[in-house]
Amino acid sequence: MKIVHFSDLHFSHFVKNPLQFFSKTWIGNANLLLKRGKQLQPVAADTLIEQLKPLHPDLCLITGDFTTTSQPNEFKKAVEFVQSLKTAGFKVLKIPGNHDHYTKKAHDKKIFYDYLTNDAIEGVTKQGSLKQDGYEIYLFPTCTLVLLDLSLATAWFTAYGSFSPHLEEVLKTILSDPNLVKPFVFAGHFPILDKVDKFHNALKHSNHLLNVISHHAPAFYLHGHNHFATIIERHGCIQVDSGSLSDTKNSSFSLLDTQKNRVQIYLRTENGLEKGGSYGPKMV
Ligand SMILES: [Fe+2]
Repeated sequence: MKIVHFSDLHFSHFVKNPLQFFSKTWIGNANLLLKRGKQLQPVAADTLIEQLKPLHPDLCLITGDFTTTSQPNEFKKAVEFVQSLKTAGFKVLKIPGNHDHYTKKAHDKKIFYDYLTNDAIEGVTKQGSLKQDGYEIYLFPTCTLVLLDLSLATAWFTAYGSFSPHLEEVLKTILSDPNLVKPFVFAGHFPILDKVDKFHNALKHSNHLLNVISHHAPAFYLHGHNHFATIIERHGCIQVDSGSLSDTKNSSFSLLDTQKNRVQIYLRTENGLEKGGSYGPKMV
């Protein structure tokens, strides 16, 4: 099974309404004006589709930050983009990032799910609901895919997520089923770091998530948020940060090819498709 993973599209819509100063929206707007508007330009769907066609992916997985400040106009652009992929014949699954729950209102109302919910995939059993339970599990014939909503509305100048210890217990129970097909592929928006960094820009309780993933080692964790494509192995967890598809200098995505007893990872950067690693059952 071939999974193309990309993240951090950051569709934007500059807000002029003065009410923005009563929420975090003004920070996102200022950032857009001063910095991000130049660094990030969403790739046209047609351009991406032409890059993806020769790869024949079975699934496109998008790990959040579709928007910049969770504005309806931004979500509408994201929906159009996803629809273009679907019209071209690609299956698409998606989870929210911190910018899709940017304000307290957006988070409380979970407006991401008003625009971007996951369709059922024919022949693939699904458990859980991202909106209700914080997870969705897809039982593909050649891998088990676990999607996580780790996003929170956070205070000004912070952008962290959280994995609840309760979810650790829930997932440990569900994933202990010996009939589930390996490899296990997890996806969340935030990187798993040793600790929350000084800018409060990572995942709280990430050790609990690492516990779940490491239990099924070698297992894969696909994420974004950092806008920097890299692969890190730790405790049997192969973390693939696919960077930002919309980065004007380093637009990137990854390809995870799960074959019998072996998983190959490729990173697609400006230099083309580069081999990122090959993992078998005895890696750990
Ligand atoms: Fe993010």
